[in-house]
Amino acid sequence: MNVNIAIIGGGLMGREITSSFARWCALVDTPVTPVLKAVADLNPEVLSWFEKIPSVTQRVSDYQEILANPEIDVVYVAVPHHLHEQIYIDVLRAGKDLLAEKPFGIDLQASRNILKVIEETGRFVRCSSELPFLPGGQRAFEVARSGKIGRVLEVVSAFHHSSDLDPNKPANWKRINATCGEGGVLNDLGMHSCHLPLRLGWKPKRLFSQLQKGYAERPDGKGGMMACDTWDNALIHGWCDIDGHETPVRLEMKRLQPGATNTWFIEIMGTEGGVRYSTSDTKGLYLFERSGGEQFWKRSELGFETAFKTVTGGIFEVGFTDVIQQMWASFLLERAGLLGDRFGCATPEEAVGTHEIFAAALESHETSSVVTLEPSAS
Ligand SMILES: NC(=O)c1ccc[n+]([C@@H]2O[C@H](COP(=O)([O-])OP(=O)(O)OC[C@H]3O[C@@H](n4cnc5c(N)ncnc54)[C@H](O)[C@@H]3O)[C@@H](O)[C@H]2O)c1
Repeated sequence: MNVNIAIIGGGLMGREITSSFARWCALVDTPVTPVLKAVADLNPEVLSWFEKIPSVTQRVSDYQEILANPEIDVVYVAVPHHLHEQIYIDVLRAGKDLLAEKPFGIDLQASRNILKVIEETGRFVRCSSELPFLPGGQRAFEVARSGKIGRVLEVVSAFHHSSDLDPNKPANWKRINATCGEGGVLNDLGMHSCHLPLRLGWKPKRLFSQLQKGYAERPDGKGGMMACDTWDNALIHGWCDIDGHETPVRLEMKRLQPGATNTWFIEIMGTEGGVRYSTSDTKGLYLFERSGGEQFWKRSELGFETAFKTVTGGIFEVGFTDVIQQMWASFLLERAGLLGDRFGCATPEEAVGTHEIFAAALESHETSSVVTLEPSAS
């Protein structure tokens, strides 16, 4: 079964998604195939990149033209955050399904407005978050929900970058509140840290946060300098109910973490066991056990153990481009009612849940106080 796709926003992520479609033949048990038909972007250079994709028959600057195309079934939108609400709602009202990029609106109110239109239109919508599709992420999720680690004592879920340590890195829309949102790094990286805890039902009921900024100005790419006003690092210390126990859950998102490159990690420790996984050691899954009065860390060497099987041999290792493809397989199979018990993409309710966490984090930092989250949609 073919599904016709359109992309709105063919920048970094729009092109990444396109390449994952181009090697769809890697998947062996996925009876749904995405066919990229149309792209909308304001930048003519971006549009010309898509000339190399033979299936693309429509390249336009006005996204309304692709929404009017009756051939299109699903739209993937990857544009700056201040445009999410309008474009997502336009996609839904045009009768298309949507894979939306995080953070799913520039703030909590925008995410709730989008959710309302999803409920009104009944369209199938998920939010992009690919890292839990890594074999290490999937295994950590399984260990956490197996109950084998006893009473959960502490959870740390984080996403770290170091790219902003370079003061000469030019500014872009992600470094400006007007386009990235007041949440700054929360909006930029927060979904990556929140997705697995939210899927496990571990949403903080109250939290304390510490937010931090880096360079106040950066090169504008045109020979001058421009002001950058976003938060760059965020530490969220939350309290969750896990099996009737109040449990610390720490969520971290940083653009200024010396030594880190796209480092996503999760650590869940319990009274009987624990699990640790980090993309900085892609193949290493660490499992903690206690037995015979001793404490052990076991390292399991992960192979290509993805939920959606591929032609790639199990002895190889998985990377970012693979999990982008896994996420799309999950989206398309769930949309077709064929996902079964495999891991689904982040739901709109989970995306709104992330914004509830971010809004509380902003309030907590501003007031230097513990903030109780509002009752939520997720
Ligand atoms: N899932 C992930 O791992 C991941 C990684 C990076 C970015 N993102 C998300 O993807 C989205 C896009 O980020 P990016 O890094 O690709 O940004 P980008 O700046 O590289 O690309 C954005 C594109 O949108 C285009 N655009 C702007 N306004 C438009 C309009 N009105 N109509 C059509 N196109 C328009 C721009 O010309 C640009 O090509 C954001 O929501 C971001 O948070 C997700």
